[in-house]
Amino acid sequence: MSDDPIVKKPESGFWHDAYPELGRGPISLEDSVCPEFYEKEKEHVFRKNWLCVGRVEQVPKKGSYFTRELAILDTSVLVVRGKDDVIRAFHNVCPHRGNKLVWQDDPFKEMEGNAPLLYCRFHGWRFNLDGSLIKPSRADLLLDFDGSKCSVPAIQCDTWGGFVFINMDPDNKQTVRDFLGEFADGLEGYDFDGPHQVYKFKAELQCNWKIFMDGFAESYHGPYLHANSFGALTEVAKMDAANPYTDALAYQLSGPHRMFSFYGEPSKETPFSRPIEKLTESSPAGPWNKKPSDKPLPKGLNPTRSDKYGFDSFQFFPNFVLIFSSSGFTTHLHWPTGPHSHIIEVDMYFKPPTTHKERISQELTVSFLNDIVLEDASPLEGMQAMLNSRALTHFHANDEEILVRHLHKVVQDTVEEGEKEKNKNIIAKQGG
Ligand code: FES
Ligand SMILES: [Fe+2]
Repeated sequence: MSDDPIVKKPESGFWHDAYPELGRGPISLEDSVCPEFYEKEKEHVFRKNWLCVGRVEQVPKKGSYFTRELAILDTSVLVVRGKDDVIRAFHNVCPHRGNKLVWQDDPFKEMEGNAPLLYCRFHGWRFNLDGSLIKPSRADLLLDFDGSKCSVPAIQCDTWGGFVFINMDPDNKQTVRDFLGEFADGLEGYDFDGPHQVYKFKAELQCNWKIFMDGFAESYHGPYLHANSFGALTEVAKMDAANPYTDALAYQLSGPHRMFSFYGEPSKETPFSRPIEKLTESSPAGPWNKKPSDKPLPKGLNPTRSDKYGFDSFQFFPNFVLIFSSSGFTTHLHWPTGPHSHIIEVDMYFKPPTTHKERISQELTVSFLNDIVLEDASPLEGMQAMLNSRALTHFHANDEEILVRHLHKVVQDTVEEGEKEKNKNIIAKQGG
């Protein structure tokens, strides 16, 4: 990796000067409170873009499958590895009379497993792993029926970096790689391959999905909201002054996607290390001196080439956050369940530990990160309730909150353009 920075702060000292198209004024908060906006967001943001739904390791063998219950798409998605090793996605529905195809005990619970074929328990119809019909039961009773036209409805599916993505838009022509654009170029060569030791947690919060994403798009809140976790750093850096620990090293925007690169002592002993960290040789950034891979960092990580670099956080549009730290990577997926609620899924990926001590080091990092995410979540439900009061109409965002501005602008612009396009088509149909 070259030592030349690929991102520099503008000479004015303001990141906004690098992205004048974003504007600088207050941001409408209508996109986070209005139920009608949510319906449009569903249609134009979530049903037309690539969405990450899991990892290839979840479908390790031919016949492996998992399901996702996605309220924002009004469907259950079935992801299956076929006999030809191709990973496909389907609506989890039987085309005979619409029974949910894969479920057990609770039809709304996600599941995973392995099967040689897809079998519907209602009337026993059988389907190949590519969705095509093998055989309806009692075929002798079927009238005017063409089995070649009766398959499990497919959803576009593609992979990048071992992540499985789906796209609900049947007219989409873009690969997921092209969609992820230059950020994916910069991550080329990162060692995403499993097996991994994965730590997961999931929670439903009574707040709009963007409000949580916003908290992971800036570190300006660090000394205040995370005073408990990062007390020592807060003391060192005065509460109300430029803060080398919380001012980002870099912000970058790329189409609808955004990232920031953040300060952090590399994962090693520091003057702030607590006794438990010394004992387990671990910290929030990961087990000490453990790299996720022996491969060199790809060019898009640590874009300022700082020796104070801690981690990089990418927000791929719309709801996929991918964070790289010195010992592995973490994903956040935000799945709206309504205008004022969403499910957050946090998955942390490490190399499998080879000793008990390594495992304990990872557990310490995970428990730190859980605490930090809980601190991030702590203001959000009260905040949503107050946004819903409509006492305010706008947010304010400073220069360290440029990514917050970007997320809301991209979502609002996407909805506006989607509505324009839809109305144009309606008028064209009426005219024709
Ligand atoms: S609904 Fe599936 S076989 Fe009838
Ligand atoms: Fe935070």
